[in-house]
Amino acid sequence: MALPLLAIVYFSISGTTENLAHAVARGAAGTADVALCRITGDDIVSGRFQNERLLETIDRADAVAFGSPTYMGGPAAQFKAFADASSDRWSKQAWANKIAAGFTTGACASGDQLHTLTYFTILGAQHGMLWCGLDIPGGEDRDGRNRLGSQLGLATHLVDGALPWSDLNTAEYLGQRLARMASRNG
Ligand SMILES: Cc1cc2nc3c(=O)[nH]c(=O)nc-3n(C[C@H](O)[C@H](O)[C@H](O)COP(=O)(O)O)c2cc1C
Repeated sequence: MALPLLAIVYFSISGTTENLAHAVARGAAGTADVALCRITGDDIVSGRFQNERLLETIDRADAVAFGSPTYMGGPAAQFKAFADASSDRWSKQAWANKIAAGFTTGACASGDQLHTLTYFTILGAQHGMLWCGLDIPGGEDRDGRNRLGSQLGLATHLVDGALPWSDLNTAEYLGQRLARMASRNG
């Protein structure tokens, strides 16, 4: 039987969100095929996101993970350019019933990451997608996953300039959960 496809759509400048994206991919491996879709500055021409191939990858996906660093209390402008370019799909509800989840990072423990995750859920809702949060109670996990206690999605922050292993483990878990939900949803 074919595996479901998980598209991980993310923007990253200095590599932290990219590390999270790769950890989500590791978690899904074996249960889903994974397409890592990095949004780059070159995808945006005269202010508009123009990478049709990336959008077509999402068309084919069963599950989508949205990732962006938190910039000025929300998703990076490059991620928002991608989201704005999805409006044609929105008008046809072409992504309805796909499973969706989100992850973000910031410099501060409480750097308004929740707002970025909230934005991802609204984007998913606009597309009629089904939201997959984190079923790990913050502060209760033996392995220290969901360190910042965010159940809407994965919120992380840099500690001494690096992501703690528990955040990467949480990202792997989110990938695993998304892949399992995509398998059930097919
Ligand atoms: C323009 C800009 C705005 C930022 N705004 C926030 C913020 O609102 N909250 C926060 O915690 N960190 C903020 N940061 C820090 C980034 O989220 C952090 O450096 C993150 O690791 C960058 O992700 P990346 O390595 O995937 O590019 C900001 C950084 C930049 C460059």
